[in-house]
Amino acid sequence: MAAPDKYKILGGFHKYYKGVENAPCMTLFVGGNHEASGYNRELHLGGWVAKNIYFMGYSNVLKYKGLKIGGISGIYMQHNYNNNYNETPAMFGKNSMHHVRKFEVEKLKQYRGDLDIFVSHDWPTLITDKRNGEKELATLLKIKPYFKQDIKKGELGSPVSNDILERLRPAWWFSSHLHVRHRVNVNWSGSSVEKNKDEINVSDSENENADKPYQMPQRKKTRFLALDKCLPGRKYLEIIDFELDEHTDVVDTLQYDTEWLAILKTLQKHIPSGDQILGKDLDPEAEKFWNNIGSDVMREIATEKDKLEQNSVSLMVPDNFSMIAPAVDGDFNENSRIPRGYAQRPYRESNMVGRPNTDSHLLGGGASKFYHNPQTELFCSKFDIPDIFKDY
Ligand SMILES: [Fe+2]
Repeated sequence: MAAPDKYKILGGFHKYYKGVENAPCMTLFVGGNHEASGYNRELHLGGWVAKNIYFMGYSNVLKYKGLKIGGISGIYMQHNYNNNYNETPAMFGKNSMHHVRKFEVEKLKQYRGDLDIFVSHDWPTLITDKRNGEKELATLLKIKPYFKQDIKKGELGSPVSNDILERLRPAWWFSSHLHVRHRVNVNWSGSSVEKNKDEINVSDSENENADKPYQMPQRKKTRFLALDKCLPGRKYLEIIDFELDEHTDVVDTLQYDTEWLAILKTLQKHIPSGDQILGKDLDPEAEKFWNNIGSDVMREIATEKDKLEQNSVSLMVPDNFSMIAPAVDGDFNENSRIPRGYAQRPYRESNMVGRPNTDSHLLGGGASKFYHNPQTELFCSKFDIPDIFKDY
């Protein structure tokens, strides 16, 4: 976890991990900048971190009860955006672990479906554009006057989340990070991004689905909501009702999304893996690919989607959480500090599955191990998607 030492206390999550407590309702989350970054990496394509609590991975689109929900983890930092995933397990406490990479943004930008919800940790910079509500902006600046300079420069939040927001135009977008409640509508009609500047013509395609120019969702506005920190007296919880079309296929369990699976099947193999992970920058071929995702890739995605639909693959996310790492026990309470090196105590074969990384030379003082999570292994083998961290 990347945070000052004073914040490194146990907290309550271990109770959910051990099953002493259970989340009362299905809970989806994306990663922020103070997460257990090693644990998130095990589940980088999505997975249960505890019973009923699902990490969406570094990016994802899922379905739940008729709603299509997209998300991206991490925060934007320009100096790491174009890097590959170059952290080894010994570096799991580093800030770069939670910095958004170009791969995830590009994957989401290929998505053509209509999203009900999108979740990011930091706000798209467009949110504080005064065209989306001068009154709301004035209220925000009254609470957080020190945001003014960044807003003026258009630097409060993530510019790459703007690309996703403008492309996907979900009905709702939820964020956090800035520790304040803020609610605005991003209006698409009459906005500078109203014209389909990203329209992509793939009319040379032989595939029927890919043979149409891309149209952005015809939505007039995206409702944006950010909430405050979860502390007494703060505005940290709101309940929102969604009305579903009567024809919507409502399934009570979490479901994979066919188009997203097709995107992963097409693009995941182009993320540098193996030795290249250890390099600082993307190799030139990969860089060229990710800077120019063209119509041939869109056709491949459409073909993969067709294949998945024709094969009627089960899209149910399996309810397969299992503990694979040692959990604290004994005399700890939520304010306890974890002794340095605790994560390195002997691996207890008896009540865990999966393979621990036993390369002890990679483990610095108190650094995390990398556990190969069986959820990721199952997902990758079921859908024939490469696991870019399999050689860790
Ligand atoms: Fe944050």
